[in-house]
Amino acid sequence: MSLNKKRFEELMEELTVDTDTMNEIAADFRYDLRKGLQNPDLSSLRMLKSYVALPDGSETGTFLAVDFGGTNVRVSKVTLKGNGEFSIDGKVAKPLKVDGIYDFIGPDSTAEQMFDFIAGLVDEVVGEDHETPYLLGHTFSFPSEQTDLNNAKLIIWTKEFATKGVEGHVVNDLLQEALVRQGLTNVHPAAVINDTVAVLLAAAYQQPDTYIGSIYATGQNTCYLEPFADRADPAMILNLESGGFMKLVPSPLDVKLDDASEKPGEQRLEKMTSGRYMGELFNLALGELFGEEEKCNYGFTSVDMSAILEDETPDLAKTAALVESKTGHALTQEECALVQRLAKQFVVRSARLVASTFVGIIWQLAGREPIAKQHIAVDGSVYEKMPYVKENLMRALSELLKEDTDKVDTFLQNGGSCLGAAIAAAMSEKN
Ligand code: BGC
Repeated sequence: MSLNKKRFEELMEELTVDTDTMNEIAADFRYDLRKGLQNPDLSSLRMLKSYVALPDGSETGTFLAVDFGGTNVRVSKVTLKGNGEFSIDGKVAKPLKVDGIYDFIGPDSTAEQMFDFIAGLVDEVVGEDHETPYLLGHTFSFPSEQTDLNNAKLIIWTKEFATKGVEGHVVNDLLQEALVRQGLTNVHPAAVINDTVAVLLAAAYQQPDTYIGSIYATGQNTCYLEPFADRADPAMILNLESGGFMKLVPSPLDVKLDDASEKPGEQRLEKMTSGRYMGELFNLALGELFGEEEKCNYGFTSVDMSAILEDETPDLAKTAALVESKTGHALTQEECALVQRLAKQFVVRSARLVASTFVGIIWQLAGREPIAKQHIAVDGSVYEKMPYVKENLMRALSELLKEDTDKVDTFLQNGGSCLGAAIAAAMSEKN
């Protein structure tokens, strides 16, 4: 069987984001930001308040940090030493789902089961010490409505999570109850933040001139420090939930993916950019190229896409073997090269869309003033590990920022979710 070359060319075209389109997206994103500041109902961005601004670097002490937002949940003990210094004094990480063994994120699981599992990990990290008092910072990476730094109600699950009894609930109440069931009455949840906020806090603890934090991983989202320059309100980080940005034209493949997802109609940008969905889009595309649309899922993930993109064997033997193992089709070298180009096209599209949203924020922050020199802190496996992402982000930023390009760079804020949670717990003491 050979690949449908005509459909391949169409797909390449459908997945192209040119400079004009990026400019439009950046302008629309900025418009939604402005509208959202007046009234989030007028915007496709949720603009969620975090009730925290940037740390000043003087935060110190030992805190527990829960990082809950992807397939792995991580709990750590973090000591903040001030001046950007910190140490991780203990860490446990476990997946929330192991095929055939347990699943705390599927529709048959409950909030109690999920939070009991997390409380068990906290117990491991404190070595079953039920005496020493700890403040706990919780990085909870889903759209949540906050009333203060410690009170966040999950609005809606994303990233295909479906556990019952969490949407509409205050997540730190669920965590606290589970900690009590575990006998951990000495552990007190004190702050709950989005992972983008955690990344920005962690970055700002160590590096000045950072006002934008982003996650580019299973999910995709960005936050920024809103100065509220023309209001009496103090500066505050706003979690944009930019993965929900809607002013994008989805390709037929995006529509197909959305129709089959847990939450159709939600998270348009995220479904076009994040690691959770890139692999699925790639599956759908290959299904079309093989004329096997009904199969829909060969099981390719974004990690497989990385492996294909990293294949430097002269005859693309690794790609051929991977594609054959998943689809049962033996490809020629020429066809493997097309598969590689297709994978790259998804990655480049993703990076160009994300860059456009960064520029929308940069323009909004600058207003009528010149763009400030700044760093954008990014964490996540797609940014860190996926070939072509960083250079395409930078290329896209320079196409949009032109002579201001040198003022802006992106950098990897590794492990930001954990450090940020500890910083937020420390900042709760000052509030
Ligand atoms: C969530 C965001 C989160 C992002 C990255 C999205 O699905 O809605 O809250 O920041 O994933 O983890």
